[in-house]
Amino acid sequence: MPELINPKNAAHCYTIADLRQLAKTRLPKAVFDFIDGGAEDETTLKNNLEAFSNHRWLAHVLNDVSEVSTHTRLFDRTMTLPFGIGPTGGAGFGHPMADLALAKAAAKHEIPYTLSSSATTTIETIAKQAGGRLWFQAYVLRDKDFFWQMIERARACDYEGLMITVDLPVGGKRVKDFHNHFSLPFKLTSRNFLDFSSRPSWLIRLLTHGVPTLANLKGLDKAATTQASSFTKLASTVGKNYDPAFNFESLSKVRDRWKGKLIVKGVSRPDDAQKIMALGCDAIVVSNHGGRQLDGAMATLDALPDVVKAIDRKIPVLMDSGIRHGGDIAKALALGASGVLIGRASLYGAVGQADEGAQRAIDILSEELKRTMQLCGVTQIDQFNETLLKKI
Ligand SMILES: Cc1cc2nc3c(=O)[nH]c(=O)nc-3n(C[C@H](O)[C@H](O)[C@H](O)COP(=O)(O)O)c2cc1C
Repeated sequence: MPELINPKNAAHCYTIADLRQLAKTRLPKAVFDFIDGGAEDETTLKNNLEAFSNHRWLAHVLNDVSEVSTHTRLFDRTMTLPFGIGPTGGAGFGHPMADLALAKAAAKHEIPYTLSSSATTTIETIAKQAGGRLWFQAYVLRDKDFFWQMIERARACDYEGLMITVDLPVGGKRVKDFHNHFSLPFKLTSRNFLDFSSRPSWLIRLLTHGVPTLANLKGLDKAATTQASSFTKLASTVGKNYDPAFNFESLSKVRDRWKGKLIVKGVSRPDDAQKIMALGCDAIVVSNHGGRQLDGAMATLDALPDVVKAIDRKIPVLMDSGIRHGGDIAKALALGASGVLIGRASLYGAVGQADEGAQRAIDILSEELKRTMQLCGVTQIDQFNETLLKKI
């Protein structure tokens, strides 16, 4: 691993690790840990990353790789790159413009952007100010009227896809958030005073723009979305609003009602994937929420091949969790993914330096992907296959 540097700004970042470091130097520890951390012992968070290094390339040589194309198709539309931006709620706690920065960078690259229902920017603002190919991610709420109102708003703004996240019937246990006394508004307490005041630019930005709120959940539950509750309270109050009773039958009702593309995120098992496909869903995302939910869950790269086999290319299988290099994207494609979603990799950029950071993250990933293709002797995305990889 190259030595870690402290980059001055996004332009001095050459890897996602550099962007992570930039975010670390610019954010209070509590906010950085909220983004960077995982559930419980963070075993799955680590395993997600290790799974990529445990798969090694067996590259082709002597192919003409002077021209390569990263273009691919998803839902009969072209994407210039085989990835989209996944949903990350609470990005605005890192930088108030983070959601918009990610959406704008995605639109510029003609790749999908997924807005989280727990975002700090509204469905309408993203559609108006960023545009592009938009998906809306919804957690299933107990309050079904509210849930459907949110989805109707996405429909009214022409979002192409609805993503239902199914690996969060209850919130995961992120111990760092408790230890860091992370609260909203960023209430100064004896435990976090030094932390928040150690990042004056972040603090000034926060005071100038106003303390972020979960804009799309406004009105759901006062305690969950206003600035009056502590983060630990907020986390559990939002969690209280999730519907742990949501099941295959409920998903089938969502399928009946949402006429756009329906993407189900948070699947690890081939049998679940087959049942979801049988309900008429349009795509599956193999994901363990970046290790933020069930600690001890299998790394998604390891879970991917069995799901791909079970789905047998009838609908797209996307994956996320642990992608930090363009080469990681290539490995997921080689194991049968139709594309991937980017989580923390682009979020580090967006919270570190908004537009420039989000843009830089996509540029780094796309440049690395293209280079990996050339070094593997691959000129088209669909030439990736499992013979190029060996698991050690
Ligand atoms: C700060 C943060 C917030 C997230 N919020 C959501 C969310 O609101 N909805 C969701 O489905 N997934 C959410 N995720 C999970 C991501 O969509 C994605 O599955 C995960 O980040 C992938 O792992 P990676 O970051 O290691 O690539 C969040 C992840 C992070 C890091």
